[in-house]
Amino acid sequence: MTETRANSKKLFIKTYGCQMNVYDSDRMSDALAPHGYETTLDMGQADLILLNTCHIREKASEKVFSELGRLKELQDERRAMGGDMLIGVAGCVAQAEGEEIARRAPVVDMVFGPQAYHRLPDMLARAEAQRHLHPALRKSIVDTDFPEEDKFEHLPAPRKEITIKRGLTAFLTVQEGCDKFCSFCVVPYTRGAEVSRPVAQIIAEARGLVDAGVKEITLLGQNVNAYHGLGASGGSTSLGELAYLLAEIDGLERLRYTTSHPRDMDDVLIAAHRDLDILMPYLHLPVQSGSDSMLKAMNRRHTAAEYLEVIARIKAARPDMALSGDFIVGFPGETDADFEATLKIIADVGYASAYSFKYSTRPGTPGANLGDQIPEAVKNERLWRLQDLVNAQTTAFHAACVGKTLPVLIERPGRMQGQVGGRSPYLQAVHLEGGPELIGSIHQVEIVGTSTNSLVGRLKEAVAA
Ligand code: SAH
Ligand code: SF4
Ligand code: F3S
Repeated sequence: MTETRANSKKLFIKTYGCQMNVYDSDRMSDALAPHGYETTLDMGQADLILLNTCHIREKASEKVFSELGRLKELQDERRAMGGDMLIGVAGCVAQAEGEEIARRAPVVDMVFGPQAYHRLPDMLARAEAQRHLHPALRKSIVDTDFPEEDKFEHLPAPRKEITIKRGLTAFLTVQEGCDKFCSFCVVPYTRGAEVSRPVAQIIAEARGLVDAGVKEITLLGQNVNAYHGLGASGGSTSLGELAYLLAEIDGLERLRYTTSHPRDMDDVLIAAHRDLDILMPYLHLPVQSGSDSMLKAMNRRHTAAEYLEVIARIKAARPDMALSGDFIVGFPGETDADFEATLKIIADVGYASAYSFKYSTRPGTPGANLGDQIPEAVKNERLWRLQDLVNAQTTAFHAACVGKTLPVLIERPGRMQGQVGGRSPYLQAVHLEGGPELIGSIHQVEIVGTSTNSLVGRLKEAVAA
């Protein structure tokens, strides 16, 4: 065995929650790679297991404790055989519950929030230093501070061969945290105040991705369109301005961003949708409810009419823009009439897709203290009705694509032999007959049919090398 292999340790990360957690998990694995940790997909092989958790709804956070129960068994088995395994809890539950996790689950060696990821190698060294102690004497390391320094300055970029393995599409966090304080939401508490990364840092990361073969980048932020990063001239740069700058990167073919807040859709960003081919005509713009009194109670700080006005402005700039949204049913005080207003706004907008949730009371948020909580049965009924409507819209959106020719970024072999799969500009999965030589570029594909949640296409011609 070579020395490197003898030193190599295995890391398994289980990721819950949103796309930012997916991005963060990669950054954690990049941070540990120089310390001899190699990522494995087999939990049973791991020397270190990290759970990257989500606190957004009650069900999401509960998963952590049941998973820790299972991990304890795995750890016990390992120790009975003379081995060991370290366990860390990262992400939004770690940030929200910190010490409480360490107390409830002593099996955990490290608990740390999203703003401490650059300190992971250091925490791990401290956890490893306790290994000679009897498990009962080891202390969990807890780091839920919001540090002054910029964690992104300290997180290493992935090695090129790792980026290549991750595929043709990539996430890139440009903004983190939220100052909006919607009354139902934990994000401002778990991710902290809004922080934007400087433009130069983002451009450098994007270039690195493109250099490793990435064709499509999705910019991430809890409120991505509130982005206001430091620009080259020392002033603040908006997301729209950033899009124009990224469009200049040779080899970058598609750009997306998520998640946006309706109040932050400014003129430059809308103009970018008109001007930049690279900016995909698909926008996730959550409204949560169609009722003005619910929007007020949720502290969204806009009305249903204002939301529709924003959409009209976007569609004027980019007529083929497809929209997606998020909805919450059963927020405290929601009447039948409020719910009908939500169905109406969905009917008015016509979504390509949408995510919908039953309101989940989150400790520490203003919504948790409101009276008039809605019974579970009512929430269920409203959710079904809403999802029926959205599903019909999604089906109609897919069906309307039949007969059109769309540019498809071919990303992977298909499920069947002789097939390949990719994505349309509107983020729909597309399957077509074709060989592996198509993978890695955008091709014109005629849409000939639909199947559940995807489109069936036929290759027309190759446009990009
Ligand atoms: N930053 C994004 C998304 C935040 S979380 C935004 O501002 O839109 C993703 C979605 O989860 C939200 O849009 C909302 O629909 C839902 N959500 C957030 N808190 C929730 C809660 N307490 N109960 C149910 N759904 C919730
Ligand atoms: Fe949560 Fe509202 Fe901020 Fe979105 S805008 S992250 S829903 S507080
Ligand atoms: Fe969940 Fe945190 Fe994302 S609460 S949705 S993982 S920002």
